[in-house]
Amino acid sequence: MKTDIIKIESLSQRKLNEAFMRHIPIPFPTETVFGLGAAYDDEKAIKEVFHLKGRPLSNPLIVHVSNVEMIHLVSNSVSEDAKKLIEVFFPGPLTLVLKKHPRVPDLVTAGYDTVAVRMPKHAVACKLIDMVGKPLVAPSANLSGKPSATHPQHVYDDFNGKIPFIIDGEASMIGIESTIVDMTQKPYTILRPGHITVEALKDVLGDVFGGDSQTIAPGMMHPHYEPTHPLYILEGSDEAIIKFMKKKDRAVFIGHERFQTNMDFMISLGHNHELMIKSLYHVLRQTNDLDVDEIYTHKMDHQAYMNRLFKAAKGRIISL
Ligand code: TXA
Ligand code: MG
Repeated sequence: MKTDIIKIESLSQRKLNEAFMRHIPIPFPTETVFGLGAAYDDEKAIKEVFHLKGRPLSNPLIVHVSNVEMIHLVSNSVSEDAKKLIEVFFPGPLTLVLKKHPRVPDLVTAGYDTVAVRMPKHAVACKLIDMVGKPLVAPSANLSGKPSATHPQHVYDDFNGKIPFIIDGEASMIGIESTIVDMTQKPYTILRPGHITVEALKDVLGDVFGGDSQTIAPGMMHPHYEPTHPLYILEGSDEAIIKFMKKKDRAVFIGHERFQTNMDFMISLGHNHELMIKSLYHVLRQTNDLDVDEIYTHKMDHQAYMNRLFKAAKGRIISL
């Protein structure tokens, strides 16, 4: 099968209906990462989403909506607190876990009685959901265990020949997945850190967030974001990191631009937090093609970034 990258403008309603009749998943851009979409009530297409990604059926999917009414289609218990967060952060990189409506198939929620809902802040994603006329489930559009896709080319690299088309879009603005908050029990828990911080959530609801770092989304227990070559996180001063890297050959260093002049072989992630977050998955993917044995990087003071980096490194930290 030939896989085309097409603009949403050239996706006719006919072509879309045809894809739905054949239960074909559709990758589309969002402001966080690309998603692999299927109508929330099309179990055949949803099974294909799991199959294409190689994703365990025990890992539930996020339901994407393009307006507030659609939230009520998948949950009939949207609390006042949830409404406040929706008011402030939707559309945007926030996912709320709510009690699920019986009409949401168990396949979507992996049998849980909750459903994760998010409204993307991306014109193409919203247009697609509007064209479909109902919510779309979408995990990140990458092979399970691999870095998420922040560019149409990444989706193409993972699914070329397996799907007829990918909906084009700019590289993802944010570059890491949404913050997930479980709103079904107080104190509310952050199941996955993201661009929207717990401080920003507290500014709206007050200090009603709890849980420890052990409380994570079911999917966060699986391997994630892993590049082909082993990644190690170096912990120490810049000087110690530079000295350590001088002794390494057949290794690449990825990290903040400030290291560039002192490293033999480096791929820069950029000169600030925002850029580093945005380019992390792209650079991790780039390292797959390098003739190196190891990848090294450094810590950064950002919870969501470190959450992804730590998983990509399978927890390997070297203290210098
Ligand atoms: O930014 C994002 O959230 C992206 C874009 C495409 O929207 N999506 C995304 O999906 O990251 P995925 O499937 O890669 O990650 C979804 C996470 C998984 O860790 C999953 O376990 C969790 O959300 N999740 C889904 N439904 C849940 C539920 N009912 N309760 C708890 N966690 C849930
Ligand atoms: Mg994912």
